[in-house]
Amino acid sequence: MRDNSRGGRYTIPSARLYPFQWNWDSCFCALGWAAFDEARAWKELETLFAHQWPGGMVPHIIFHEHHDSYFPGPAVWQVKRDVPTSGITQPPVAASIVRAIYERATDRETAERMARAMIPKLFLNHQWWHGQRDPDGTGLVAVYHPWETGRDNSPEWDAALKTVSKEGIAPYQRRDLDHVQAACRPSHDDYDRYVALVELFRRHDYDQGILYRLTPFKIADAGINFILLRANRDLLRLMDEIKYPDSALRADVAAWIARQEKAAALLWDDGTQSYCSRDLLTGRNIAASTSASFLSFYAGVAKKDEQIRVLERWGGDAEFMVPSLDPADPRFDRKRYWRGPVWVVVNFMIGRGLKEYGCEEQARRVGRDTARLIAEKSFCEYFDPLDGEGLGGNRFSWTAAVWLAWARDYYP
Ligand code: GLC
Repeated sequence: MRDNSRGGRYTIPSARLYPFQWNWDSCFCALGWAAFDEARAWKELETLFAHQWPGGMVPHIIFHEHHDSYFPGPAVWQVKRDVPTSGITQPPVAASIVRAIYERATDRETAERMARAMIPKLFLNHQWWHGQRDPDGTGLVAVYHPWETGRDNSPEWDAALKTVSKEGIAPYQRRDLDHVQAACRPSHDDYDRYVALVELFRRHDYDQGILYRLTPFKIADAGINFILLRANRDLLRLMDEIKYPDSALRADVAAWIARQEKAAALLWDDGTQSYCSRDLLTGRNIAASTSASFLSFYAGVAKKDEQIRVLERWGGDAEFMVPSLDPADPRFDRKRYWRGPVWVVVNFMIGRGLKEYGCEEQARRVGRDTARLIAEKSFCEYFDPLDGEGLGGNRFSWTAAVWLAWARDYYP
């Protein structure tokens, strides 16, 4: 984490592959920092939110410094800000992280001050999600780009991505393949469509009102919706704990939670016995059982018995929990980005959720598998669920952070 820290202000996910500040990576890093340097943890969050857009969006990447090793960089996004950023967002884990750091902090005075200062920013961000990404108040927020989900290459996005035209995109050169084998990364066709979406959003200057009407990729991702529901619960709790005076804000958060709890049912799919993402343009749920389904435990809306049965089956097929896709799905690919491998940040959220539901045995399995992966295979970006091989980038910050904040307690 120290090696990946830049200027004592933010943490890059991994040198070369991801040389800037990434939104949800940075939040998990803050949790890792909190285990040994609370001041640095708060600094991380402060830096991230210093780049929040005026409307409330927290961008998915902040390009603090110039680097050639990443595509698409600031010249592609063309976001006009002093420090350039991307023009899309990522899973809103921040409020949950702030609450966790606040509750465990030993320096109470700083924690009080920092958490209090964060609340209006977190609120504004959640208000952006509910207002801009669910303007009709359905209780399900939309994402417009696979990268917003954080599970960039999940098969859930395949069909919707195919509807995105790649006509006329500017020629470009991928940089990810300079660092990681092609077999572990998205295909060229996917990449073209990722770029086409960015170009479309850029043409409309990232105007959320316009994008809501014309984006060809509009999905209620189960992952984002569960993470946001949890984040709202944590924000409300944090406001109570620090006796935040503005009760109007509390009422808004409570109303979002109520709406989200109801809407979660729309994502349940009897066929796969999973929570699935929903394509908001076709109005249909996407039949793919992924690790995001188990974030229902973290969000407090799990169908406990049904989902534990599914989890147990996966646990029989995989040596290391939790694969990003059902190992029995024909699209399962143990090494390819979000089509099979294990990500420890997802495990962290699932593990905590399971424990909160009293599913001790399953929580222990997820915790122990995570600890073994990190301790025995090192700080990789993601892992093969069948043999534990470490994949993608190495010396990865959020993997180290998950160890520090949680997984080490489970190491046998
Ligand atoms: C990849 C992941 C994304 C993560 C980023 C940096 O794009 O899919 O979730 O934030 O890498 O680690």
